[in-house]
This record gives sequence, C-alpha cells and structure tokens, in this order.
Amino acid sequence: MTGGTGFIGRAIIRRLLQAGVQVKALVRPASVSSCYEVSGLSWVCGELSDETTLRQLLDGVSAVVHCAGSVRGTSLKDFVPANIASVAQIVQVAGSQVVIPRLLLISSLAARSPDLSDYAASKRQGEEVLRSTAGAINWTILRPPAVYGPGDRELLPLLQWIRRGLAFVPGGGAGRFSMIYINDLVEAVLSWLQYGSGVAGCYEVHDGKVGGYSWDDVCSIAVELYQRPVRRINIARGLLSSAAALNLALARLVGYQPMLTPGKVRELCHDNWVCDDRAFGCATGWHPQIGLREGLLRTLS
Ligand SMILES: NC(=O)c1ccc[n+]([C@@H]2O[C@H](COP(=O)([O-])OP(=O)(O)OC[C@H]3O[C@@H](n4cnc5c(N)ncnc54)[C@H](OP(=O)(O)O)[C@@H]3O)[C@@H](O)[C@H]2O)c1
Repeated sequence: MTGGTGFIGRAIIRRLLQAGVQVKALVRPASVSSCYEVSGLSWVCGELSDETTLRQLLDGVSAVVHCAGSVRGTSLKDFVPANIASVAQIVQVAGSQVVIPRLLLISSLAARSPDLSDYAASKRQGEEVLRSTAGAINWTILRPPAVYGPGDRELLPLLQWIRRGLAFVPGGGAGRFSMIYINDLVEAVLSWLQYGSGVAGCYEVHDGKVGGYSWDDVCSIAVELYQRPVRRINIARGLLSSAAALNLALARLVGYQPMLTPGKVRELCHDNWVCDDRAFGCATGWHPQIGLREGLLRTLS
C-alpha cells in the first residue's frame, strides 16, 4: 500500500485489516508521526523513488495498491514524482518479483480530461506509464470522482457551508458531476482484491447516482436533510480565475503547494464529471451503498 497516510489510503488500510488482509504500507520519513501500531499492519519507511525501499515494500506481497499521489502543485513537475515517476518505479520492482503481484492504481476521473490541469495531465500520464510498461503485471486502474467522507479536508469546508445554508458554486455551476463516499471506494478496492485477476483494465466508480448530480440536486438534498433553505452563491469564473492566478503567483514566490490554481478552476468549471460504474460492477459484483444524502449525514455528524 502506498499513500496509506492520506485520506483515502488510511481508510483502505482500515478496511483491509478488518477483512483480515495483512498490509505493508509505505510511509515517508517526513510523515512517520502518522504511523500507528495495529495488528496485521507493518510500515516500510522510505521514499517512493528509492528502489531499496520499494523492494522491501513489495517483497512477498500478492497485490499492490498504489494510492500515493500529489493533489497540489504549482506546475507539472510538482506532480511528476508521486503521480508519474512512482508508477514506473513500482512497475519495475513489481515486475521483478518471483511471484508478480497484481497492481491497482488509484488514478482519478480527472485523467479523462488531461488538458484541464497539470494534476489531470499527471494522472493520465501515470496511467499511460502503467499501460505501456506493465508487461506481465496484471493491472487495474480505478478512476474515482470527488471522494468525500470523514478524514477528508478538501471538500469538507464546502460541505460545512452547505450545512450552514450557503452553497458556493464555482462558475455558472451548469455542469454535472459524480461523487463517491469514502466507504464505497474502499469497498471497491476490497472487491478488486477479492475478484482476482479478472478485473484488469480501467474503471470508473461512483455512488450509484446514474447521470451524476447538478448543483441544484446537491442543494435540494441539503434542504431536505437539514430542513433549512440553502442559498446558492455562484462564484463567477473570472473571479475564481483571478484568485487562482494570484494564489499561484504567491505559492511560487513563498514556496507552498497551492490547491486553487488556474488548472483547478478549469477542473471545477468543467461541465461533465459524470462517470459510469457499470463495467466495474459487472467485473467484481461491487455495488455502491451510500448516496449523497447518507454520505453528507455521516461526514458532517
Ligand atoms: N480525494 C479525492 O477526492 C480524490 C479523487 C480522485 C482521485 N484521488 C486520488 O487518490 C489518491 C489519494 O488521494 P487523497 O485524497 O487520499 O490524498 P492525500 O490525503 O493528500 O494523501 C496523499 C497520500 O500520498 C502520499 N504522497 C504524496 N506524495 C508522495 C510522494 N512523492 N511519495 C510518496 N508518497 C506520497 C502522501 O504521503 P504523506 O502523508 O507523506 O504526504 C499521502 O499518503 C491520489 O492519488 C489522488 O490523486 C483522490
């Protein structure tokens, strides 16, 4: 397991341990404080770029879940180590094992539209590296849409504002998007593990809402859930773009990794982030269980 110290990776590890799976997880030296002791879990400390670390991590495993990824950056080069180079390194080490492990890459729905942002381009390039170099490795790519749930910090502020009665909608908010609650994504990973080698390929997953949500759908669900009006506040795309350009310039000057960048604005204002989970369901028998209403309730309680 890589990315086991992050939002999605932590949840995957918790569920795998519950299911009785023995897990070896990578932790970067700078993040060792995120490690915890629990039966069935062992940590390997090191960097993804270090071959010795990867050999230790992959030694004797039957499956690899590559969930580490950069979601913030000022340019493509900030996304390269975690989202592209690491895939090549893992493929190389996995392919040299005596028993070659299966490999699941947690990509992103963003990879479907690589021209939108450096993040999207990096996720797509990571997928392409996997497809072109995997050789004998049995690989699967999962492309989740927006993932939310306890432990997430990116979407949480937006959801908290919705509960307070204000929905901040990027651009005109005319697009449609799929979402997935963390537990359903985690179950998808478990299904991949359980369904063996028949799950090769690239798959989308979502929370079961065919056709995705509009912002009006989200507001209606919140109104029903919280029994209060939810005011929709459209943030003009021009305003968002200016704020993003300023943030990016500041990040480059001061040296932090920004989330709001012009690329992120293009992602946020994209009109179609709806995905189709039928192929993954057919391949594994997985069915999402938690719609947005239930997911909001669990996330915000
Ligand atoms: N959250 C979403 O809505 C969403 C949607 C679609 C796809 N995804 C994908 O899901 C994956 C996990 O996302 P998340 O939301 O859990 O992000 P997160 O909370 O930021 O966690 C990122 C994880 O990746 C690790 N990581 C980052 N850069 C690394 C590097 N250079 N070397 C080794 N490890 C590195 C982090 O380790 P440290 O703790 O050491 O920083 C952390 O464990 C990513 O690949 C992301 O693209 C997320």
